[in-house]
Amino acid sequence: MRLEAADLRSGYGTVPVLHGVSLTVSSGEIVALVGRNGAGKTTLVKTVLGVLRATGGSLHLDGVDITRLPPSRRVRAGLRATFQERALFGALTVSDNLRLSGFGSESHHRVLDAFGPALSGRGSQRTGTLSGGEQKMLSAAIALATEAPLLVMDEPTEGLQPSNVALLGDHIESARKAGRGVLLIEQHLELARRLADRFIVLEKGEVVDGGPAADPGIAARVARRLLI
Ligand SMILES: Nc1ncnc2c1ncn2[C@@H]1O[C@H](COP(=O)(O)OP(=O)(O)O)[C@@H](O)[C@H]1O
Ligand SMILES: [Mg+2]
Repeated sequence: MRLEAADLRSGYGTVPVLHGVSLTVSSGEIVALVGRNGAGKTTLVKTVLGVLRATGGSLHLDGVDITRLPPSRRVRAGLRATFQERALFGALTVSDNLRLSGFGSESHHRVLDAFGPALSGRGSQRTGTLSGGEQKMLSAAIALATEAPLLVMDEPTEGLQPSNVALLGDHIESARKAGRGVLLIEQHLELARRLADRFIVLEKGEVVDGGPAADPGIAARVARRLLI
């Protein structure tokens, strides 16, 4: 599966944020999208999933134009995202959140146990009583367990303790090995370097740099972009 954004534009009200972003993500690759706070990364995620309307440009999934499709149709076509803001039902149990994402009871242990101490055995716990990091792990666990061929993950490791960052990194790597494509928005440069096949750098709603992770200069350029 291949996601292609071409000259994608969007914003809030009359304020433009994305000024024509072009990128691709294909099956079996992890593309790290990096950029400072306010660069437009989350806006891009929302536009790709269709919860924010594109004001220009196009989005294609395997050559099919999805630019005007509602989010539900994009999800059915194979896209799945984890959002930076919490997207779980805090008043419901962890198991209820799994049910609402379509997981039958027989699969709950499998989904939770894969994420070790952070989630294992927590099915009957009220989701709002999990720590912020644990809730992020749960969102990521749900997205990964759906087996959607194309994942968009908006800072999934933000606020996680290092052991959970490493664990989630392993799961994202497994997703790639299983032939899935991942657009990973990631501020932990070390993790992004470990996982990514390619980098894309977003600045003020525009792609300003990018290239294969194997490019010896890319890490230094990305670090410089994020610092200055
Ligand atoms: N709901 C919103 N309404 C208006 N402006 C917003 C909204 N969300 C984000 N913005 C603005 O859009 C720009 C990009 O934000 P965002 O996409 O969240 O950046 P990033 O995820 O890279 O930190 C920022 O200038 C931000 O203030
Ligand atoms: Mg963001």
